[in-house]
Amino acid sequence: MHFNGFYSFFQLVCVLLRSIYTLDTHFSMQEKIIILDFGSQTTQLIGRRIRELSIYCEIVPYNKFPEGDDSVKGVILSGSPFSVYDENAFKVDLSRIRGKYPILGICYGAQYIAYTGGGKVEPAGSREYGRAHLAKLDTDNTLFKGITPGTQVWMSHGDTITAVPEGFRTIASTDKVAIAAYQIADERVWGVQFHPEVYHTEQGTQMIKNFVVDVCGCRQDWNAASFIETTVAQLKEQLGNDKVVLGLSGGVDSSVAAVLLNRAIGRNLTCIFVDHGMLRKDEFKNVLHDYECLGLNVIGVDASAKFFGELAGVTDPERKRKIIGKGFIDVFDEEAHKLHDVKWLAQGTIYPDCIESLSITGTVIKSHHNVGGLPEKMNLKLCEPLRLLFKDEVRRVGRELGMPEHLIGRHPFPGPGLAVRILGDITPEKVQVLQEADHIFIQGLRDWNLYDQVWQAGVILLPVQSVGVMGDERTYERAVALRAVTSTDAMTADWAHLPYEFLAKVSNDIINKVKGVNRVTYDISSKPPSTIEWE
Ligand code: XMP
Repeated sequence: MHFNGFYSFFQLVCVLLRSIYTLDTHFSMQEKIIILDFGSQTTQLIGRRIRELSIYCEIVPYNKFPEGDDSVKGVILSGSPFSVYDENAFKVDLSRIRGKYPILGICYGAQYIAYTGGGKVEPAGSREYGRAHLAKLDTDNTLFKGITPGTQVWMSHGDTITAVPEGFRTIASTDKVAIAAYQIADERVWGVQFHPEVYHTEQGTQMIKNFVVDVCGCRQDWNAASFIETTVAQLKEQLGNDKVVLGLSGGVDSSVAAVLLNRAIGRNLTCIFVDHGMLRKDEFKNVLHDYECLGLNVIGVDASAKFFGELAGVTDPERKRKIIGKGFIDVFDEEAHKLHDVKWLAQGTIYPDCIESLSITGTVIKSHHNVGGLPEKMNLKLCEPLRLLFKDEVRRVGRELGMPEHLIGRHPFPGPGLAVRILGDITPEKVQVLQEADHIFIQGLRDWNLYDQVWQAGVILLPVQSVGVMGDERTYERAVALRAVTSTDAMTADWAHLPYEFLAKVSNDIINKVKGVNRVTYDISSKPPSTIEWE
């Protein structure tokens, strides 16, 4: 007993010392750019551009600058929906960062630096939105190294800087905007009125690179392999010999999180994969097999009977979601309690989930996860190893971890599964009809090499029957809708312009092979105003 007590104390001291040490080395290793988010819709894009340059960056609310973090190499101030002179405008004390770090202000960021320095910001005659050209450009300025005079930039602002404070030098203009970019003389501070992060700013990435590499001195060595190395080391430190449980969904994020954790803590990770009965055809069996091949310690739970029971007769989409969410938590909790001494719940939360879940004032505005509430219910600590990655980065990490392409390249699939693709009430028979039709469509996309060209695809079972004729017989059977979209982030989507020959083949196959379906339609609605799912 005594020995154990002493041993735990000794261990605790070691862990504390080790964590202090690794925090230090981690911070010094992981140099980063900080993006202060003033609420612009393009803030995430700034992050994307920097990550694409193999440089690590973090987006933080405008008032949450990480004071004392030595690994910060530079700061970017984002745009904002506010005017600098609005009463409610987001304000920060620039003296805390000016002079200490290189700074680049974008749109509102640039206006804010100029305005707080004593310059003038006024409403532009008309809102300036769209393409413009940097007619006059100081090509000797570091920010514009390699940039061609006349290059196209993207403007989106209601205000404009009409006078800069003393010591500011204008370094670019367009025909409408006299002060399109400036630098504070003898300081490493720049402001640009346009948006270099937006695709339509043709040499925007080069400008951002000039700032983060040439000015801030970032090394461009952040990649999937270095992420894995650092994260595995961190997870080992964080979790020690603790037991961790993780819910697998079959999707990319939870699968990559599991493999990463498995590399760090091996058998101390237990994964639970719940079949709610509304997965795709054979998905439970196939994905479970994939997980086992990856060496994961995984428990598959067939809880379909419970879910079908609870969903019987329910037609409201939100009620379906709630029942499935709660049912999932119950099953997961019950299984996890069969394990002993679990301390952590791991989740495959990714960066956009975190950013979308937090307003810039730090309050939760949208709970994004199907299993939100699970950590509280189970009284477990939360471990989210992918929380700083974008979706395509998660995929790259998965590839680097040696995961098979069919697991990494999978289309997104909603947590409630086919339940939100069966309009009206759900029965096992309807699920089976939909699974067969969906299988033909998805397999067809793969066979025709179209799968990777669409963001997401699936079939919807409609609550209508229509008259048909098969042989000499009149039929009165179900109709399905095929849905396939192109997208980059699921926020907006266009219907996929699939070849007619392909659609004809899939329609024929479904009607001939899926009993109970005699009509196939193709959904040609974009998001917005429609959504990707029908419910
Ligand atoms: P919508 O239909 O809103 O979908 O255009 C956008 C993306 O989110 C997925 N989706 C969900 N994912 N639980 C999830 O995990 C849900 O309840 C849910 N509803 C929609 C959808 O498949 C698409 O990728």
